[in-house]
Amino acid sequence: MIQRNDYRTIIKRVISSVLALTVAFSLAGCGEEKEEVKKEAPATVTVGFSQIGAESDWRLASTASMQSAFNESTGYKLMMDDGQQKQENQLKAMRKFVDSGVDYIVLDPITETGWDATLQEASEANIPVIIVDRRVDVENDDVYVAWIGSDFRLEGDRACAWLEAYLASIEYEDEVNIAHIQGTVGSSAQIGRTEALEEKADACGWNIIAQEDADFVQAKGKEVMERMLAEFGDTINVVYCENDSEALGAIEALKERGMRPGKHIQNGEVLVVSFDATRDGLLKTLSGEITVDTECNPNYGAPTIRLINSLQNGLPVEHDNYMEESQFSTVLTITEVRVDGKPYKVTHLNRDMLANRNY
Ligand code: AHR
Repeated sequence: MIQRNDYRTIIKRVISSVLALTVAFSLAGCGEEKEEVKKEAPATVTVGFSQIGAESDWRLASTASMQSAFNESTGYKLMMDDGQQKQENQLKAMRKFVDSGVDYIVLDPITETGWDATLQEASEANIPVIIVDRRVDVENDDVYVAWIGSDFRLEGDRACAWLEAYLASIEYEDEVNIAHIQGTVGSSAQIGRTEALEEKADACGWNIIAQEDADFVQAKGKEVMERMLAEFGDTINVVYCENDSEALGAIEALKERGMRPGKHIQNGEVLVVSFDATRDGLLKTLSGEITVDTECNPNYGAPTIRLINSLQNGLPVEHDNYMEESQFSTVLTITEVRVDGKPYKVTHLNRDMLANRNY
């Protein structure tokens, strides 16, 4: 049976051939080489990309990475839609992509749930969907071809394992009172990083004295930190931020209140734990205001285009694909952390490493 997508491919090929012949005839009329007649313009592959928004430096970097991979020079046309941090906008964009008959859809889902119907529509229209960054929680995983993203739970586990190792290394035995600034509730990044903290806090007897969503946004990170400081003041000695943007906001709020973000918790400094490892996040790590920054890799362009190129050539692709990520600190005593018995290297950050960090 010929599917809707097959019809589109046939129509595209017919249009390309007609165009090629038209060009060829007019060239022939002008006395050009006959050989031109055989040339067929390659059809451009259209990719609809539903991006979450522009909430953080990390997000801007992921958009830039997709744009630099998918463009005319690589044979693609990227139709990007900015969801402005709203799932309803992303759902509309997905329908628009299906209606306009794009060749592929790339979706970075704001939250995990609520995608079944839309992904089913894309699947029935025979448009392959690739999920990037965060995950979707759907009844049937076959409604999308592949996922490329981060292991957010592992990121959280690495951050918490680092914190546990650090506190042990300085023989810190006082109360650990954590202000927990969450990312968008219901997103994979929040779920994984929050679960890791809650589990480790339980195991180590740490107190999570405040917990609030700041949507991965710097200004909200600052507001949330201000509210937590107003309520708990200097009893807070650890701030666990679920991304660098929130950490930058939280650090501002701490300093405005006269508190000192830094690694000497035993001398009244506040340990700031963060995720992403953006340039600004790593600068704060170098200055010691962020104690440990666990990387979240935003460079989706290259792996996504590789995957789509494979699909274009009829090659098999892996369903689940993980990004490579690291962890940075300037604390020299901890060179690795263990999660489920497996060692993960902690990179000792130095200024040279920032030379290629363009986000
Ligand atoms: O999904 C990845 C998270 O989303 C990044 O940690 C954060 O910065 C972004 O907004």
